[in-house]
Amino acid sequence: MVQKKQPEGPQTPALLQILQWSTRPLEFMETCAKRYGDCFTVKLGGSTPYVFFSNPQAIEKIFTTAPNLFGVYSILRPTVGDNSLIILEGDRHHQQRQLLMPPFHGERMRAYGQLIFQIAEKVTSQWTKGAEVTIRPFMQEISLDIILQAVFGLNQGERSQQLKPLLISLLNLTTSPLMFALAFFPALIKDLGPLSPGRYFVQRKQKIDQLIYAEIHERREKLDPSRSDILTLLMSARDEAGQPMTDQELRDELITLLLAGHETTALGLTWALYWIHSLPTVKEKLLKELDTLGSDLDPNTITRLPYLNAVCSETLRIYPILLQTVPRVVKSPMHFMGYEFEPGTFLSPCIYLTHRRQDLYPEPEQFKPERFLERQFSPYEYLPFGGGNRRCIGAAFSLYEIKLVLATILSRFELALAESGPVRPVRRGVAMAPASGVKMVFKGERQN
Ligand code: HEM
Repeated sequence: MVQKKQPEGPQTPALLQILQWSTRPLEFMETCAKRYGDCFTVKLGGSTPYVFFSNPQAIEKIFTTAPNLFGVYSILRPTVGDNSLIILEGDRHHQQRQLLMPPFHGERMRAYGQLIFQIAEKVTSQWTKGAEVTIRPFMQEISLDIILQAVFGLNQGERSQQLKPLLISLLNLTTSPLMFALAFFPALIKDLGPLSPGRYFVQRKQKIDQLIYAEIHERREKLDPSRSDILTLLMSARDEAGQPMTDQELRDELITLLLAGHETTALGLTWALYWIHSLPTVKEKLLKELDTLGSDLDPNTITRLPYLNAVCSETLRIYPILLQTVPRVVKSPMHFMGYEFEPGTFLSPCIYLTHRRQDLYPEPEQFKPERFLERQFSPYEYLPFGGGNRRCIGAAFSLYEIKLVLATILSRFELALAESGPVRPVRRGVAMAPASGVKMVFKGERQN
């Protein structure tokens, strides 16, 4: 059989496709999928073919192919740096994952349970009865406090407080689709004068770097190996040659965790609160389940609640926070699905389109947690955290956080949606966020 070269796709100019992907990504993907099916090639990689997949067999092939056959391409490189886990490949990627996974799993993850409750209570105590609140910034404050604590540890202090607004303002910069589009032209992400859009980005990044380097230097002077935070862990690590990580390597990994570790979780929480409050039957069922816990919230019991779990899964299905996985770069010719992929081609499992497949998720545009109680989905059918050797290292941690924060808020407070219609997702950098940030009225303590 003659192999076809690569899947078909729109022939419009690359610049137009980048603009569509930046401004109206869902419409762009849906239009392509309708016309070309579940594998199509777009022009987001300049002259390099960039292939989207929403076919579970193709996704399985990508996730199970030996990691050394792929490189990686990420538009986040200018932000996170060359030594970030997101950018690393091969053995270094594998070693760094081995180092970073344990703090986000098992007992070490569960040690954050009480802290998550405390931070959720502290942040929501700012709400006043009868007032309208925009949910997203509060969820961002919660998740940022938690990740800062995990990364820098108990004595985070003043420097953490300075880092918080800077990290938020760096992310806010990317809310403009044009700033996002700029990421496709790395040469422009520079300070090219007062009016250049890259200037703000570079200035904010420099300020963040200064604070991170100051923290690294201070810790180097009095390293306390008994501390359990991630910075201590990274500073104590040695490579095969016995060498510690350099300041630059530490910086890249810390900024990666701070950014990847809070924005996504905050958006997941915001969407979950939106769906729960827009569907009375979902809210009723969930409260009934949460009420079985009584007043003593126990993290381990919360994480095992089946309906809460189904609500979280459906939240990350219907509008996945990230639309696609990090693109894998083909290193030597690959054949699958009847296509031939040349070296250099970007292969990207498309989370959004896979989660919207009719054959897997009937009435895919409806929010129905029950689907996750009725059947199990394979890792190639349901992939909010990507998959294979690059699957999100924070998946368990963020689900743990989302469940504990939801339990804290829902079991204690009465909230009501203050939106006049359905909330649509909009691009916020690489993530998808609810357009309005989700407006709600805080009605006070719940009366049981
Ligand atoms: C709801 C929350 C989150 C979502 C939806 C999410 C989603 C993702 C996705 C889709 C990927 C790409 C995986 C791939 O290409 O196959 C990823 C990678 C990654 N995530 Fe998350 N993430 C979340 C929370 C977190 C948290 C809390 C952390 C911090 C601990 C984190 C750190 C990372 C890192 C470091 C990578 C790169 C992994 C690698 O390349 O080996 N994420 N995430």
